[in-house]
Amino acid sequence: MSAAYHELLDATIQHLENLKSRGTRHLKVDAETLRALALPPKAMPAAAPAPVAKPAVSTFTPTPKPAMSPLIVPPVAATPALNPTEKAAAFAALRERALACVKCAHLATSRKNVVFGVGNIDAQLMFVGEAPGADEDEQGEPFVGKAGQLLTKIIQATGLSRADVYIANILKCRPDTPGQSAGNRKPTPEEMQTCIPYLHEQIDLIRPRVIVALGATAVEGLLGKTIGITKLRGNWREYRGTPMMPTYHPAYLLRNQAMSEKRRVWEDMLAVMEKLGMPISEKQRNYF
Ligand code: URA
Repeated sequence: MSAAYHELLDATIQHLENLKSRGTRHLKVDAETLRALALPPKAMPAAAPAPVAKPAVSTFTPTPKPAMSPLIVPPVAATPALNPTEKAAAFAALRERALACVKCAHLATSRKNVVFGVGNIDAQLMFVGEAPGADEDEQGEPFVGKAGQLLTKIIQATGLSRADVYIANILKCRPDTPGQSAGNRKPTPEEMQTCIPYLHEQIDLIRPRVIVALGATAVEGLLGKTIGITKLRGNWREYRGTPMMPTYHPAYLLRNQAMSEKRRVWEDMLAVMEKLGMPISEKQRNYF
């Protein structure tokens, strides 16, 4: 099948995911489009328009994805850049939708807060973590517990503040950990798949120049692949056209206090600063 077909298919799936995450459950599609959809892909004209754009006649319900299907990473954002007012409004609307989300019933009942994200929606640098812990659930803000305080120090060491960057997680609710007032469990594939459209939309709106993925789960969510963080860290990847630096999660640095590991994360941050054209002093180069 041609790359154009796959591109069109990916774009259609992304569009349907976006509609679904906004609460749309039914789409009207005309009979001609339904016939075209039933044809084998090769018989479809190369430049066929996206089926959802056609006028309405009959009803089409998107097939629910199998519970264990791999994470889908949508293709490069096709949405045009918005003006500041439109962007702020779109971001606020997205936040409202996420705050009201009950797609994971077990998390919706156990959470205290939906932890949407924090920071500058025009940030050039965005950090993505795994999921809120107990402190974040309590305060409704990502990375405010012990690992978060370390992340804040790392951000400050670059010369930036939390208010300059944007910080979000793959999962917006704390994974339920019955009987545990601290700690976290890894989000399940189903939870990640259900929640990730919010993050894709956040990134599409913010349009950061660089993303830092904190830990293996963040990389898995963003790239749709499971690869060990030790192999990944320090090497640039691309998230839908945006440079992405995988590095260790700050919680790992709290567990492993070795100077060598701190230095590794710092080297990843130096690479990020270079990519962004940020000034780097001799003192900063020699940290750790
Ligand atoms: N760990 C994460 O991955 N995210 C948070 O917000 C807090 C801890």
